[in-house]
Amino acid sequence: MLTLAIETSCDETSCAVIRDGREVLSNIISSQIEIHKRFGGVVPEIASRKHIEIINNIVQEAIDKAEVEFEDIDLIGVTKGPGLVGALLIGLSTAKALAYALDKPIVGVNHMEGHICANYIEHKDLKPPFTCLIVSGGHSYLIYVKGYTDYELIGRTRDDAAGEAFDKVARTLGLAYPGGPLIDKLAREGNKDAIDFPRVMLEKDSYDFSFSGLKTAVLNYINNMEQKGEKIVVEDVAASFQQALLDVLVDKSFKLAREKGSNKLVIAGGVAANSGLREMMESRGKKESVDIFYPSRTLCTDNAAMIGSAAYFNYQAGNESDLHLNVNPNLSLN
Ligand code: KG4
Ligand code: ZN
Repeated sequence: MLTLAIETSCDETSCAVIRDGREVLSNIISSQIEIHKRFGGVVPEIASRKHIEIINNIVQEAIDKAEVEFEDIDLIGVTKGPGLVGALLIGLSTAKALAYALDKPIVGVNHMEGHICANYIEHKDLKPPFTCLIVSGGHSYLIYVKGYTDYELIGRTRDDAAGEAFDKVARTLGLAYPGGPLIDKLAREGNKDAIDFPRVMLEKDSYDFSFSGLKTAVLNYINNMEQKGEKIVVEDVAASFQQALLDVLVDKSFKLAREKGSNKLVIAGGVAANSGLREMMESRGKKESVDIFYPSRTLCTDNAAMIGSAAYFNYQAGNESDLHLNVNPNLSLN
């Protein structure tokens, strides 16, 4: 079964063709990062305009690269939320037009579900159930994946998402947008024990996250150092901040895996590209006999192939949409 999928929830315009939910024939990703960089973050109105300028070319490119014809496509998948409303609408309108013109079924996909499915593309034998940590720019979730479209949402962020904390701290350090990959790189050169930033675990049995206190602690540290006229070692701040955040993510993920008796732990979303997170998960996984899964870097950050995979599994489960499908910028996982 061939799925053509479209992703335009934020600042990547992407279209993919995938076979049977797991095999990527093409995955074209056009990033707007260079345009948004100068504003220090994504400007929603500019994002929508850029999507509309190039979406038709990206769709054509995905078809050409996959070496298929539009008539070969069996299913259209599209991100319906969460994300920027104007940006989502460009992808949705394009997907609806294709579904109508080709007379093919359409499935609206939750973007966060797409992030999980990136792992099915990367790991051909991976099957639910498993414990999953999804950490992106806008959301952080701890979930138990019971089936391909069946999720138990157990923890979520109460304030800033993990990626958001990376981006905000990076901005304070004078780094470019998006800050996550830059902090990742600097952290490798710094001392993670140099500054003792807080690890906010919340109530004893809570699987929720809160990163705004950590973010504020980093800002206060920088302000204090500047007031005292002392030199800030950016690498040490990056390493100490990253370690504080990762300690919380890793601890809670393993605690949930233990509670569920699950020996598979899957990470997903843009922050799953973080080298420190991958290393920590793997070394703790070895000690606790838990297998760790994460997608390659291109599949961690936003792309349409993961949306195609989620559309396929939802179609198999009977979750077909129709042409009344609308976007939902605040869509939750369940
Ligand atoms: O999943 P994603 O591409 O978009 C959303 O759905 O939000 O995630 C983007 C987020 C950004 O906050 C970015 O800074 C972060 O993922 N990110 C990273 C790394 N690569 C991307 N954070 C830490 N380390 C990285 N290597
Ligand atoms: Zn995303």
